[in-house]
Amino acid sequence: MRLKEKIQFKMNQFLLTSLSVVEQGIHGVSLNVLSKDLIADPYPYYNRVRNKAPLYYSMAIRAWWVTSFDLVQEVLVDKRFGVDVRRYEKRWKKILANLDEERRERFDNPSMLGLDPPDHSRIRRLASKGFLHKYIQSLEPRIKDIVDFCLQRIDNGPMFDIVESLAKPLPAIVIAEMMGLPASDHEQFQAWSEDLIVATSTRETEKIEKGQLAARQLINYFRKIIKERRGNPGSDLIGQLILAEDAGDKLTEMELYNTCNLLLVAGHETTTRLIGNGVYLLLQSPDLWAQLREDPSKIPNAVEEMLRFEPPVQATQRFVTQDMEFHGKKLKRGDVILIGIAAGNRDPNTSDNPDVFDIWREKVNQVSFGYGIHLCIGASLARMEAKVAFETLLEKFPHMALVDENPRWGDNAFFRGHEKLDVYKESSQGATADLS
Ligand code: HEM
Repeated sequence: MRLKEKIQFKMNQFLLTSLSVVEQGIHGVSLNVLSKDLIADPYPYYNRVRNKAPLYYSMAIRAWWVTSFDLVQEVLVDKRFGVDVRRYEKRWKKILANLDEERRERFDNPSMLGLDPPDHSRIRRLASKGFLHKYIQSLEPRIKDIVDFCLQRIDNGPMFDIVESLAKPLPAIVIAEMMGLPASDHEQFQAWSEDLIVATSTRETEKIEKGQLAARQLINYFRKIIKERRGNPGSDLIGQLILAEDAGDKLTEMELYNTCNLLLVAGHETTTRLIGNGVYLLLQSPDLWAQLREDPSKIPNAVEEMLRFEPPVQATQRFVTQDMEFHGKKLKRGDVILIGIAAGNRDPNTSDNPDVFDIWREKVNQVSFGYGIHLCIGASLARMEAKVAFETLLEKFPHMALVDENPRWGDNAFFRGHEKLDVYKESSQGATADLS
């Protein structure tokens, strides 16, 4: 990062923190995503903002926040909100001023997550073919083998880190196999994915630079792999995308790299956090672990509740495509709207006792995989990985317990999870929690 950028960045940080203090003074609430208190427990903040106004303009970050369940869904299906920043000159002018050639190329070629229709629809249609529900269901035995493999590697000590041992490697190995990538590379993907995610919400220039380097390395990695595979594409995800590209104008070269890149990265940190957050939530009360062990058929419902209660992706973003009036507020073209996924999930108008983690809820209302045209492609896969992970953990470690009742949350306000979560294989409370 150049010196000018560094100074600009520090000034922005300072401005955000100062304006948050002012906002707090005027409105009694502010969602400062860099604040340590908010990162430790964001839900009281989301509740306060929702109570104030479900569509709220934050002067500190100069963006709108949407925090009720219905509004989150409404914005995500409304075509007047888009994701492609390149359509808003006032936004991209500032971004472009700081980009070197390489980053400019990435900016000019967003992945489907940063594209509006029709390009989005075309790329998504192709990529979705590799994630059909029936195919994902057929992966269950292989996913079970991978979970067993991860847990077999744990040493004989009394405790282990669930994030490092299972939550991280499982999604990395599964997606690498689906894409036909060498298993030996999966630790490298994890490292790149982590660097990219860390860079999305940090004050430290070093971490931002690491994220930029990871983005560069990933593109180069796929350039090499795709070059090697062109003569012999095969039937895996990458093969399908290469064949689609060869069949006509469906994917440009850069779209192909970007789609591979996104598929590799999107499922890592998210599914890792789902499993980590789920273990944490279930072990908060040893009874839950024992109850679920008694009735594993409830695991899928418990996974939905984990997604609702502690969603790995806390918020996403949209741009306003035209000047308009929306729920009594005047929105301007290019305005940013932050979609409060986690806030919507805790809306009392949609869930009874939303701040209670209840795996027996009859209907779990959550938008943790998004909604509308960008609804997560990997939702079935993530659910399947989590289901198999919990089934196996409950079977292998019937009396598992948290080592630390209050483990530290990772310091990213947009991706919520623990970087490390140590558990005892056997708890001293195991006998009392055992219902059998
Ligand atoms: C618990 C795990 C996961 C969570 C919480 C999650 C969450 C999300 C969310 C919220 C979005 C929509 C973002 C937006 O609208 O701005 C999304 C999109 C996406 N996800 Fe996931 N995801 C998970 C796992 C996965 C997996 C395993 C994959 C693939 C291997 C994946 C691939 C994608 C892709 C490609 C998109 C972009 C879809 C589009 O733009 O049309 N995700 N995900």
